[in-house]
Amino acid sequence: MIVILAGAPGSGKGTQADRLVAEAGFCKISTGDALRRQISLGSEIGRSVESYLNAGKLVPDEILSGVLAEELKHAAGRMILLDGYPRTLNQAKSLDEMKDEYPVSSVIHLDILSEKLIARLTGRRVCQDCAASYHTENMPPAVAGVCDHCGGKLFQRSDDNAEKIRTRLDVYKQETMPVLDFYKERGLYRRLDADKTPQELFTALRKMLEF
Ligand code: AP5
Ligand code: MG
Repeated sequence: MIVILAGAPGSGKGTQADRLVAEAGFCKISTGDALRRQISLGSEIGRSVESYLNAGKLVPDEILSGVLAEELKHAAGRMILLDGYPRTLNQAKSLDEMKDEYPVSSVIHLDILSEKLIARLTGRRVCQDCAASYHTENMPPAVAGVCDHCGGKLFQRSDDNAEKIRTRLDVYKQETMPVLDFYKERGLYRRLDADKTPQELFTALRKMLEF
């Protein structure tokens, strides 16, 4: 069974997914994290996708199918939380073709005005070892630049600057918003107001997912 966390860059998908993993036993699949992992490994896939991530553009659907299939292998039999996939109508259709094995139970849209997202994204810092996410003001680590969970070094993503954020928001509007309609037509779409504190949003998500 799959729950999809959907929403614009910075809406809080990763932050909420990490808490759902820790407190509700979900298995998180983040295609963004998987792609960044391939880049830091210097693999063939990593080399082929790096320029897309750096530019804030979507990686081609054919590459994503392979990345998703690989991630799904490690999630067998578990309740899956998808963060960052599907992001195009083609990806949504591919996932739909797998519905016998991986049925989607709901698509939760973390909805927030794009004007609110710039400050969230420019202040984000991510652990280079465990990918935990922080914010310099909203969610600072105990020691600046160091991950609370594993002691890893925090860095700023190459796509978290004002110019790339604008590109990512445009791509989201053009390519990913139609995916929300795809799920509305199938009765799976649910909306949550994401202009809340992380704790308030988590409480609303718990209620929606009934755990
Ligand atoms: P991906 O890594 O998925 O990035 P994204 O969609 O741009 O989303 P973000 O990770 O930026 O935002 P988030 O919603 O997870 O926010 P977070 O919780 O961290 O994708 C990156 C790239 O990979 C894409 O551009 C593309 O190139 C490629 N890619 C990935 N999947 C793909 C696919 N399926 N197809 C094609 N290409 C793909 O929060 C952000 C910040 O805000 C943090 O600092 C956090 O601390 C803070 N924050 C979180 N919640 C709150 C809150 N409630 N209040 C205040 N601050 C908050
Ligand atoms: Mg994320």
